[in-house]
Amino acid sequence: MPAATTETSIDFADLPRPLAKPFYIGTQLVDPPILQAPMAGFTNYAFRQIVREFGGAGLLATEMVNARGFVWMDEHEAEHPDRLWGVAAEARPLAVQIWDNEPETLAKVGHRLATEYQVSVVDINFGCPVRQVTQRAHSGSYLLRFPELMGQIIERVVAACAPTPVTAKIRLGCTRDQINAIDVAQVVEGAGASALTVHGRTAADMFTGEADWDRISSIKPHLKRIPLIGNGDLDSAEKVVNAFKRYDVDGVMIARAALNKPWLYAQAAAAVRGEPIPPDPTLPEQKELMLHHYQLVCERFGEEKASVLMRKYACCYAQGRPGAREFRKYVATISTPQEFFDVVERYFPL
Ligand SMILES: Cc1cc2nc3c(=O)[nH]c(=O)nc-3n(C[C@H](O)[C@H](O)[C@H](O)COP(=O)(O)O)c2cc1C
Repeated sequence: MPAATTETSIDFADLPRPLAKPFYIGTQLVDPPILQAPMAGFTNYAFRQIVREFGGAGLLATEMVNARGFVWMDEHEAEHPDRLWGVAAEARPLAVQIWDNEPETLAKVGHRLATEYQVSVVDINFGCPVRQVTQRAHSGSYLLRFPELMGQIIERVVAACAPTPVTAKIRLGCTRDQINAIDVAQVVEGAGASALTVHGRTAADMFTGEADWDRISSIKPHLKRIPLIGNGDLDSAEKVVNAFKRYDVDGVMIARAALNKPWLYAQAAAAVRGEPIPPDPTLPEQKELMLHHYQLVCERFGEEKASVLMRKYACCYAQGRPGAREFRKYVATISTPQEFFDVVERYFPL
């Protein structure tokens, strides 16, 4: 079967070259201006490794790390969070995203990440809409109601991380009736952040409806100094090109679509440069890629835990390919390498 289609409907003659320029987050160059989004449970070292192998992402990001949990583990001499797997030795540039609502806790962790781990960027999560983070921990998108506290957090983290740049990732607001992204953006910039990423939905939207790129774009004239990164619903090279053509953003960030196509960043980067878009890997190549991903997860977590973790990653790889439903049904039950290899051999779409 032809795997997911390669975009052919871009009129390259129309494109100003280059369509989008690399930009800086503090002293960190983001080239190309296409970022890999943080995704809890997915964008661990194994996934990032695969994205790096394809190329095309100017900045990669970890899953969000709970700052309070990090401090607790540290004080109890436990290992650092699993979510920091690979971070110390990994290639750069790399952003680590942290969340909490206490300026001191976030500053302490930001400082450790900047000095001990020497990460390229410390990103603060102000966008997570999940109840556990908002209602229970009064963090993530919950903080969009309190721009003043956001400002205090950012100021403290910036001071603790300097010269490592600090960025913020937000949604448009808490609800459709409380959209305050422009005010929040000004607070973020005023407090010393080096970039702002905006997911064009409110927290109440979760993932419903479409990301509102007009609203993302409307923030740009209100920023004096820092780059604006737009995020939401970019699932093809064509959509990335159109985002740069139509909207006033310095960079774009891609999340969900890359779980199914980690090569999308490379395709988008080529399209933005006005170059031919590399084709999707063939299905046998995609199968090899998934096995490579499994190998990386096994090396960290051991075969048993890796096999269970791999269920969801494998489902992502198969999504949208013919026979995916059958594959998902069987892969969702695997617990050992042998079971995984058997299911892949028998059911991975080819
Ligand atoms: C499974 C999953 C986990 C996510 N985890 C995070 C996270 O840890 N931090 C964050 O800022 N956003 C997180 N997001 C939101 C994405 O980074 C992104 O803002 C959102 O998915 C919209 O982009 P997309 O349309 O390209 O997927 C997550 C999204 C998904 C689907």
